[in-house]
Amino acid sequence: MSRFAAKFVEKELQIQTTGLSGKNFVLGLPTGSTPIGMYERLIEMNRAWEVDFSKVTTFNLDEYYPIKRDNSQSYYKFMFDNLFGKINIDKKNINILSGEVSDADSECLEYEKKIEAAGGIDLMVIGLGANGHIGFNEPGDFLIPYTHATDLTQDTREKNMRFFNSLDEVPSKALTMGMGSILKAKKILMLVSGESKKEAFKNLLDGKITTKIPVSFLHLHRDVTVLSDMKL
Ligand code: GLP
Repeated sequence: MSRFAAKFVEKELQIQTTGLSGKNFVLGLPTGSTPIGMYERLIEMNRAWEVDFSKVTTFNLDEYYPIKRDNSQSYYKFMFDNLFGKINIDKKNINILSGEVSDADSECLEYEKKIEAAGGIDLMVIGLGANGHIGFNEPGDFLIPYTHATDLTQDTREKNMRFFNSLDEVPSKALTMGMGSILKAKKILMLVSGESKKEAFKNLLDGKITTKIPVSFLHLHRDVTVLSDMKL
């Protein structure tokens, strides 16, 4: 799954950067355990000159809030440890929501503007939460279309507790791209791995769209590829 995903990213990047536009390839990226294998493969490919990140701009999906960037569990640190610190990307082209700001709303608004100014996201890679969330768009009565601050559900905090020392240490909020920010991407690649995702994945395949299963909104996008290592 990871090799295929890395190849998919490389192919899309190649198509865009060999074109005449001169525009950077805009790549949306997730965190979590699922994309780690893809990141490892992309690093190998970058070292072998099979993929070049010098004309790539990235936007990460989400970040805990509040959190210091140097906290071992921040998504900022995750991205530098698992990808950005090991590839030839120009650091000024990396965009990650900051969990350090005092004004979360203007951080989110600025982020949307930056995505727009970059020309929109060409390829958005996402994972899937066990409760059907994408980024931190949690199941509920409604979804917010644009980048916003959100409360994490108890369920998500418990799931993510494995990376922290205790539940108290897991931030209760996060900043996340909204469902609309995700659906505006030209292409979406979703990676689904692990038994805990089975229920959410089956719900997706069910075909009904509901805010109780945020991933179901992918049915509204015309270009989604799902890669999974799961037997249903
Ligand atoms: C977090 C992230 C999601 C990610 C999910 C699944 O909650 N906000 O973007 O998709 O975890 O993570 P994992 O791949 O570790 O199962």
